Amino acid sequence: MKLFTLALPALAAAASIQPLQSRQVAGGPRVVYAAQLGNPNGCPAGTFSFALSEGGLIGTIIFDAYNALVGPGISTGEREKQCDFDVTIEFPIGCTTGNIIVHPRGDNFIANTDTGVYSASYTLPKGQLPAGNPPNIQYRSGQNFAAFQSIPASINIRNQNERNTTFTARTRIFLETPLSNPQYSEFSIQNMDIYVRDVVTTPTC
Ligand SMILES: *[C@@H]1O[C@H](CO)[C@@H](O)[C@H](O)[C@H]1NC(C)=O
Repeated sequence: MKLFTLALPALAAAASIQPLQSRQVAGGPRVVYAAQLGNPNGCPAGTFSFALSEGGLIGTIIFDAYNALVGPGISTGEREKQCDFDVTIEFPIGCTTGNIIVHPRGDNFIANTDTGVYSASYTLPKGQLPAGNPPNIQYRSGQNFAAFQSIPASINIRNQNERNTTFTARTRIFLETPLSNPQYSEFSIQNMDIYVRDVVTTPTC
């Protein structure tokens, strides 16, 4: 009984943070790894890391330098940053459909004239993303940026060797400002959860 009482607050906390998959099955899709591509200015070497949640259901990318800046004395090259990365997702054998969830977050300071924008294009080369890319996310005020993208995906995995599949994200963030001499604004992404939910797997497509 002790175990039961301990587990409840943890479940309640998880549920309040985000809509976790309710019917995650053993062997269902799980994010196993993420690595940056090249040496982009938004995630130069040493500023990109990856962690798995307990239970391995959610992969979290941690960005130490993914911030777009404008303001007095700040070089114009800081206004837009990019970070491209590969995420390895292990799918079960069979035909799987689901939604790949991308959940970027950051603490920000955006002047009331400005807009922070997150723009991404995603590919799943061994499968399909039938809805294409989600629209840009625009962030205008407040300090705690958090957004969800839900990307429908389908994939057919025929054998054990095909199970680890690459999901590629080409992302950029930038600040839009109407002013030629803008006030200080910062739009940053500090971490990003990635997981797959609403999963249905059938033996064949
Ligand atoms: C997928 O990759 C992870 C991490 O490298 C590894 O632990 C796992 O065994 C791989 N899965 C399969 C089915 O090969």
